[in-house]
Amino acid sequence: FDEVSLRPKKLDEYIGQSKAKNNLNVFIEAAKQRKEALDHVLLYGPPGLGKTTLAGIISAEMGVNLRITSGPAIEKAGDLAAILTNLGTHDVLFIDEIHRLNRSVEEILYPAMEDYALDIIIGKGPSARSIRLDLPRFTLIGATTRAGLLTAPLRDRFGVINKLEMYTADELKQIVKRSAGILNIELKEDGAYEIARRSRGTPRIANRLLKRVRDFAQVMGGGVIDLKVAKHALDALEVDEIGLDGVDRNMLLSIINKFSGGPVGLDTLAASIGEDPGTIEDVYEPYLIQLGFINKTPRGRMATKNAYGHFGLEFED
Ligand code: ADE
Repeated sequence: FDEVSLRPKKLDEYIGQSKAKNNLNVFIEAAKQRKEALDHVLLYGPPGLGKTTLAGIISAEMGVNLRITSGPAIEKAGDLAAILTNLGTHDVLFIDEIHRLNRSVEEILYPAMEDYALDIIIGKGPSARSIRLDLPRFTLIGATTRAGLLTAPLRDRFGVINKLEMYTADELKQIVKRSAGILNIELKEDGAYEIARRSRGTPRIANRLLKRVRDFAQVMGGGVIDLKVAKHALDALEVDEIGLDGVDRNMLLSIINKFSGGPVGLDTLAASIGEDPGTIEDVYEPYLIQLGFINKTPRGRMATKNAYGHFGLEFED
């Protein structure tokens, strides 16, 4: 309930991602003027940057219903057919983790996206035949962590492709202040900035840290989040000065200490710290690359001079 209520409902309440926001605003207005469904939209970028939130906003701005599902949840072609035939005119279908669709499901999606049609095979063997069902005009919003994970035919069927970027500390500060308002939390400017700058460029993390810091503020007395309380709470949560958590530190120190700074392959690195390679690639690595702490080379991951410096370690070329 909390998480849902923190999501902005309209485009002008949505903070950051100005490129995606400005473009979407034009495409939404144009589609509304023409009384058409919005073209299919692909959103990609690391988790927690607001892909689901944007899907909710797009459907609200278009004034249509939103149906939310995910790649792994659609197991069979028939599951997708059931969803598609239940959509209303111009409705939005949001498929999270769209790169995880089965091949047979993905193939149903092609004619659905392109021709608003569903090709169904009825019968078996020599008497089998295909019938074509018309679908309403709808908008597919697909979300994925990396556009490169999609097959080319699927990617090519999206008319609008938006990459979501990590947020600046100032944008995250505006987001936590907005969230604090909604949750009735007294949050000082310096406390808000401290949470923002330790949130790895990610609103989902900023909002989660805000709630945990509030717990400390409440129990330590006063209930107000200022710089002192924020620092104390974030230190207790083992979120360091630049927002790295235990897994980030473990990963960097593993590259440095176990693999002499790298290069080390993703699978080897993952095994050495007991994490899933996909999670490292999608969740942890983007921020570390953005910070300039990790370089991705053809032979594997390398820790940079900046990474050594963060731990007060000597870097040798
Ligand atoms: N909450 C999560 N993401 C947000 C954003 N981009 N703007 C405002 N509130 C948010």
